[in-house]
Amino acid sequence: NDDNFKKVISHAKEYGYVFQSSEIYDGLSAVYDYAQNGVELKNNIREYWWKAMVQMHDNIVGIDAAIFMHPTTWKASGHVDAFNDPLIDNKDSKKRYRADVLVEDYCLKIEVKINKEVAKAAKRFGDAFNKDEFLSTNGRVLGYQEKIDSVLKRLGQSLEKEDLADVKALIEELEIADPLTGSKNWTDVKQFNLMFGTKLGASAEHATDLYLRPETAQGIFVNFLNVQKTGRMKIPFGIAQTGKAFRNEIVARQFIFRMREFEQMEMQFFIKPGTQKEWFEYWKDARLKWHESLGLGSENYRFHDHEKLAHYADAATDIEFNFPFGFKELEGIHSRTDFDLKQHEEYSGKKLQYFDPEENESYTPYVLETSIGLDRMFLAVFSNALQEEDLENGTTRTVLKLPAVLAPTKAAIFPLVKKDGLPEIAKQIVEDLKWDFNITYDEKDAVGRRYRRQDAVGTPFCITVDHDTLDDNSVTIRHRDTMEQKRVKIEDLKALIKAEVEM
Ligand code: GAP
Repeated sequence: NDDNFKKVISHAKEYGYVFQSSEIYDGLSAVYDYAQNGVELKNNIREYWWKAMVQMHDNIVGIDAAIFMHPTTWKASGHVDAFNDPLIDNKDSKKRYRADVLVEDYCLKIEVKINKEVAKAAKRFGDAFNKDEFLSTNGRVLGYQEKIDSVLKRLGQSLEKEDLADVKALIEELEIADPLTGSKNWTDVKQFNLMFGTKLGASAEHATDLYLRPETAQGIFVNFLNVQKTGRMKIPFGIAQTGKAFRNEIVARQFIFRMREFEQMEMQFFIKPGTQKEWFEYWKDARLKWHESLGLGSENYRFHDHEKLAHYADAATDIEFNFPFGFKELEGIHSRTDFDLKQHEEYSGKKLQYFDPEENESYTPYVLETSIGLDRMFLAVFSNALQEEDLENGTTRTVLKLPAVLAPTKAAIFPLVKKDGLPEIAKQIVEDLKWDFNITYDEKDAVGRRYRRQDAVGTPFCITVDHDTLDDNSVTIRHRDTMEQKRVKIEDLKALIKAEVEM
């Protein structure tokens, strides 16, 4: 809910994870900076993905293509012509909105009404309440539901046909108002390209128009044959890449969920035509398993199969995650056919075919794509981890239960007091462990306060050096999630931490 989401955003700032870009100038909308802890978490997520995709698959290799690409790339890919959002301006407020989002928000409001009816009935009927039965029999709820269904159907149909006059008619018919001012005075709906343009070259006459890439995928398609030949890759094989992408999102809200500059982790898997259904299922399964391996709870994921397909796909599904604002797209899995390679063949005049030695024939491979936003994954991990726990002694603690493999700092080392040689021993432990992990040292305040600080920033282990350490060379290690404490030998620390945090 809203409150939880606000807590996520303020915690991310307060504990050095995410800052608004250019904050001293009041920020830049939908652009964010990763702070000292955020960059570590982000790097760890990227590495966790890279290991699963590249290191663990002997038929997947990585590349790092440039953000700038030849402008014809975006003609061929369809982005110049088809990468558009339907926009509408309010004539009074001069605010611009995505027309489809206005309609969707209207539907959400109706859903809220339905939920209120459900809550009311649940209260009235108590134990005897059956939600499914209520939803399928209550006249008022059915009326609302019918309205949502018909609105979304009409919207979907007109966007597919790009019948923008229809979308405007729908907005007027539903009497949708500007959410900020309440005005219902709308312009026509227009298409607006999402790519950022820039120029290459010194003088205005000789400059070439360029785009900042809106997806990393095209850098892989144009390099397909280079990688296949130099890596002597045999189909099926994949090329993976992580990197920045840019989209001039109109409705950029919800923190790092929808940004104008973001990072993707994509993998294009080149396959024999006709095998796309099998590979689609394979990658759906493999990617869901990857997510589940992080332990954020299987119930927080679901597939959403697309009925409306992008211009390049013959099947597509999203892995949705239960964000603080509900289930939303985290990753896309797309069966892209030979659309991209064929388009690049046509626009470049170069053959992009694979000679299959087993079949003794050449063909243009089909492509199965997995595409996940690194920032969205960050938000999924971070928001899921942030918890407030009531403790037995009546107090609460704020704890960031990040998966230990992803946590920015793996252990914090504390001397119990700042004297009697304890800081020296603690600092020596830091020296020994820092070769393997990010370690932090803290000697300020009571140990309880230091524990709370590390809980809030997500450090899985706290290690305290006390007076007994002087005799037995042992320390107390405290586990963030259980708060359990154990005595262990200093020499065993490295293996113990490694067992929990290694990818
Ligand atoms: N190559 C296919 C492609 O780009 P997409 O569904 O447009 O497909 C893939 O994007 C993923 O990239 C999304 O599932 C999402 O996680 C992430 N993504 C897309 N737009 C984003 C944005 N504006 N901000 C943050 N992440 C975004």
